[in-house]
Order: sequence, then structure tokens, then C-alpha cells
Amino acid sequence: MRRKFVAGNWKMNLTLAPARALVAALRERLSPLPPNVDVAVCPPFVYLFPMAKSLDGSGLQLGAQNAYEEPEGAFTGEVSVAMIADTGARYVILGHSERRHTIGHHEDDRMIARRLRAVRAGKLVPILCIGETLAERKAGQTNDVLSFQLAAALIGSESITAAELIIAYEPVWAIGTGQNATPAQAQDAHAHIRRDLRRIVGSATADGVRILYGGSVKPDNAAEIFAQPDVDGGLIGGASLSADSFAAIVRAAAPAAQPVSAR
Ligand code: 13P
Repeated sequence: MRRKFVAGNWKMNLTLAPARALVAALRERLSPLPPNVDVAVCPPFVYLFPMAKSLDGSGLQLGAQNAYEEPEGAFTGEVSVAMIADTGARYVILGHSERRHTIGHHEDDRMIARRLRAVRAGKLVPILCIGETLAERKAGQTNDVLSFQLAAALIGSESITAAELIIAYEPVWAIGTGQNATPAQAQDAHAHIRRDLRRIVGSATADGVRILYGGSVKPDNAAEIFAQPDVDGGLIGGASLSADSFAAIVRAAAPAAQPVSAR
């Protein structure tokens, strides 16, 4: 059985004092941590070191929001995998839709594949984001887009194991819009991704890879989405900035992972 995973993507939000306050509140609300859910927060690069300290001993884990593919050199403003590893972070979000579509550099699939290989070589775990735009969904291209982004990102990583990869299905139209995918839409997309994964990395790995859903997850829709058979948790944006709502979403992941006995 796949262990649930819930990660908070803080994006470019919070400064140091509120970030510390958020982690302190999360420690309080998530103590003890549900034993069957992995939980991580992904702050901006500059806060990785202080947040590692704030998280120390809590069982909550740390992730970065991106990484550069080269190990070192004249790449002003970029951050390498080894630098991220130095902070104690374990995960790296890659190919987020805001980096593919919104932010100046418009990351493409080849770049994302190189970064995925670099993250894996550095012994960190990529959280690979894929997802279709609204126009692509309306044109009936959702599965094709997911297949393409997945296959392109995994070029050169075909021998990856389940523990080395997390995927996040994030439909672009659901990110920050308040309009989440329905549980059935999420399940359809996740099942499609897992079918494709079987072909690319083999069944054993595909069955073990956790596929998260991201896009307007809130405390009131999380449980239903996480209960889908191929949804293994969530990548949470806006709702991860409040300790109350993020903790509620983490708890929503727990019952599905550990069915309570009927007695
Ligand atoms: P929201 O939860 O704010 O829609 O953002 C989702 C997301 O992009 C997580 O990476």
C-alpha cells in the first residue's frame, strides 16, 4: 500500500517571521503526526535553512520549489541540487505549471528532464508536476498532454525506483482558482498516469510511485479527493499557508491510508 504524502508548496509567499510562526503552529497541530502520512513543506530557497531548523525533530520534512540541472558554474541566480541537499531538504518540486507557463523562463520538457536526472543523481526526490491547461482539457487533449509531459520528463530516468519519484497531477485550470478537479476527474488522470508509468518504468515501480493531486485542495474537498484509489495525497498551494487548513488536509489524508477497524 502506498503511503500518503501531503506537501505544502508555499510558492513566493511569507517572510521569515510568518514562516517561522506557520511552522511552529503546524508542529503544534500535527503533534503527533499521523503515522501513515508523509508531510513536507516547500518554502522559497532562502528559507530552507531556517525552516530546517524550525522543523527539527518534528517529523515534518522539507522540500525546495526547483533546482538547476548543472552541478556548479556561471549560472547567476540558480541553485544546485547539492546546495539544496545541504539544507536538509529531501524533495524538489520540478516542472510546476507556474514555471512552465507563467514565469519568464518558461521551462520546457527537456530542461525538466535534465533537472529530474540531476535531482535523482543528488539523491533527492523529485516531485514532478504535470498537468493540462483549460484549453487542452476542452479540446479533449488531457491524456495526450499528460502522456507527453510524463514521457519527456522521464527520458534518461527509466531505471528509477518508486522511492525515488513522486508525481503531482496539477491541472493548470485548478491551480489557485478555487475550482478543483472533481474526484472522478482526478482519479481518471491519475489512473492514466499510472498506466503510462507502467510502460516507462515497469509495473513494480509504477505501482509504488505516489501520485499527488494539486489544484485548489481545501479542508472540505481533500478527503474525497484523497479517497480515490490512485490519488496518494496532495500538493497544496494556498491552503498550505494556514496551519489550520494545512493540518486539516493532512488529517484528511490519514483515514484513507489507515482504515479504522469497524469494531
Ligand atoms: P493551490 O492549492 O493554491 O490551487 O495551488 C496548487 C499548487 O500549485 C501546488 O503546487
